[in-house]
This record gives sequence, C-alpha cells and structure tokens, in this order.
Amino acid sequence: MIFTKIAGTGSYVPNKVLTNDDLKQFVETSDEWIDSRTGIKERHMVVNETTLDLAYNASLSAIESAGIEKNSIDLIIVATVTSDYAFPGVAQLLQAKLGIEGITAFDINAACSGFVYALQLADKMLKSGAFQNALIVGAETLTRLTDWRDRNTCVLFGDGAGAMVISKSDENQIMDVITGAQGDVDMLLYCKNPDLKDPEINAISPQDHIHMKGPEVFKFATRIMPKTVSDLLQRNNISADDLDHVVAHQANMRIIDKSARDLNISMDKMFTNIDKYGNTSAASVPIAIDEAVRTNFLKRGDLFITVAFGGGLTWGGALIRY
Ligand SMILES: CC(C)(COP(=O)(O)OP(=O)(O)OC[C@H]1O[C@@H](n2cnc3c(N)ncnc32)[C@H](O)[C@@H]1OP(=O)(O)O)[C@@H](O)C(=O)NCCC(=O)NCCS
Repeated sequence: MIFTKIAGTGSYVPNKVLTNDDLKQFVETSDEWIDSRTGIKERHMVVNETTLDLAYNASLSAIESAGIEKNSIDLIIVATVTSDYAFPGVAQLLQAKLGIEGITAFDINAACSGFVYALQLADKMLKSGAFQNALIVGAETLTRLTDWRDRNTCVLFGDGAGAMVISKSDENQIMDVITGAQGDVDMLLYCKNPDLKDPEINAISPQDHIHMKGPEVFKFATRIMPKTVSDLLQRNNISADDLDHVVAHQANMRIIDKSARDLNISMDKMFTNIDKYGNTSAASVPIAIDEAVRTNFLKRGDLFITVAFGGGLTWGGALIRY
C-alpha cells in the first residue's frame, strides 16, 4: 500500500495591492459594503507578471520547503482558469522554467475547486506507483477577466499562486480526496472564450468578462461546502470535533462563517485570509494552506479538511493529517 503526504508548500502574490477604497475610482462602492458583505479589504493584482510567473515563484517556495531536489519531481499539475496561452499550458512552461526535463506536466480547469481536483489526481497517480513526487499548483491572474465596470464582481477577485509538493509517505497522511460537479446549465458563474465571429474577415470576438449571479452562487456555496465536509467526515468515520482545522476556499467570509455554523465547527478552527487576497480561484486553497503552515496555525500532526467550490459548478475536499 502506497501512502502520500504534503512534503512542502509555497505561495506568491504580485506586489500591487488594490484596496477597497482604490475600487471607488472604477465603480460606486465602499469599503464598508465590500468588507461587511465579503470580508475582503484588499486584493493583489498583476502588472507585468504572467500566470506562469506567479506559478513559478510559488513553486520555488514549495520545493524549498519540501527540501527535495527539483529534479526528483516527476509530475506537475497546474490548476488554472487563466492560462497565459490556450497552449502551451502553464504546467509545461513551468517545467521548462524550473529546468526539469521530460516529465509529465499538464493543466486542469475546475475553476475555484481546481486545486482540490489536482490534489486528487496527483494523489492517485502517486498511489498507483507510477510517480514519486508531484508539484501541484493553483495559479490565477483573474484580474485579466474582471469587468471593472461591474461592482457585483470586480470587488471579489484577485491574483496569486499557491503550490504544494506531495510525496510518498510511510504514514497515511493524505487520507481521502473527493470531488464532484454539477454542470452549470443556468450559467450562474461563467466567462466565455472568444470565438471566430466572422470567418470572412477573420475577426475574433473580444475577450469576455466574469459573469455571476451572486445570490444563487452564495446559496450553492453554503449548501455544498458543509455537505462536502460532512461527506468526508462520514466516509472516514470521523467527527467534526476530531478536526483541528478547516482550510476553506476563500470566496466570502459569510460563506465560511455560515458553513462553520452549519457544521458546528468553531470559527477559531477556520483559517481565513480573504481580507488580504479576495477570491483567487484555484490559487485560494494552496495560498491559504501555505499561510496556515507558515503562521503555525497548521502544525505537523494536525488533522484538517480543505474544501473548495466554484465555477463549473464544481466542488471538492480533502482530509489530511499534516
Ligand atoms: C456577491 C455577493 C457578495 C453579493 O452580496 P449580496 O448580499 O447577495 O448582495 P446582492 O447581490 O443582493 O446586492 C445587494 C445590493 O448591493 C448592491 N451591490 C452589489 N455590489 C456592490 C458593491 N460592490 N458595492 C456597493 N453595492 C453593491 C447591489 O446592486 C444591490 O443593490 P440593490 O438592492 O439596489 O439592487 C454575494 O452574493 C456572494 O458572495 N455570492 C457568492 C459569490 C462567490 O462566492 N463567487 C465565487 C464563487 S467561487
């Protein structure tokens, strides 16, 4: 039986910070509205950096914290909805930038749940015996897809990347990972790809922006997040009291708060950093886990659940002994 563990974590955000007050120059809003409805105070935003740059910096930090030679990594999975190119993927460019030759590297898209999907994939690929050390990354430059005239969405999102090295272990540390999807036929949360508008003049439609039906997404999130945590607990015969922490996708403080209440888990156990970053989609969970580790909120031996939900619609969670 092959077991797996988190060997190291890292994260990176671009330098430029947009505060809630800064957003008043684009839309009619206020710090009071944004903070009270979402818990967000500020978010980071790329200026010249690419999604690859963010992924690369987070990866270097994760590899250093894992204390392994980068050449012992034989699998890279990047979760993103903001790949710099349709192809090549961020993962292949990351492989080249890290200077690791000839290994398996690919991107996946499961929106804000993407990192948990990547974790499930990498975990199963390691447990199959085919791979030794996986680098998994969530990296996003969501501000490129933001409609700065839409106050319903532009206040929510930010840029960043988080990374994790997972390796084989003597003990069962990545204990269980679950994911799910329910096709978003009602288009609650989407961003359309450009298509060929007029073949005769070879005209391409402009890049779309993020569209969201906020209250409906809120309802979905507050239903699926507690359900995913409950499912994980039930499958593993564990009670919520046995958990040291929950590291949830940082989309809205009210979603985290309501889920914690429904699960009867104290807010002291919930890691939050949404105030600093907003919603960074696939990067949100690995940035949060890395910060939880670096601030000593999450310690070796702690039992925690990480849980995410997002566009797709998708969701996922993992039960991990750190
Ligand atoms: C987006 C969200 C914060 C909106 O909060 P809400 O309490 O549902 O607010 P509503 O959408 O009902 O809007 C209430 C009012 O605030 C206004 N408003 C919306 N955004 C605003 C902003 N940035 N500043 C000021 N007012 C704003 C609306 O126009 C509306 O005004 P009206 O009543 O005059 O029409 C909330 O629905 C949410 O977080 N949804 C989930 C989003 C999410 O997590 N998405 C990512 C999933 S991965």
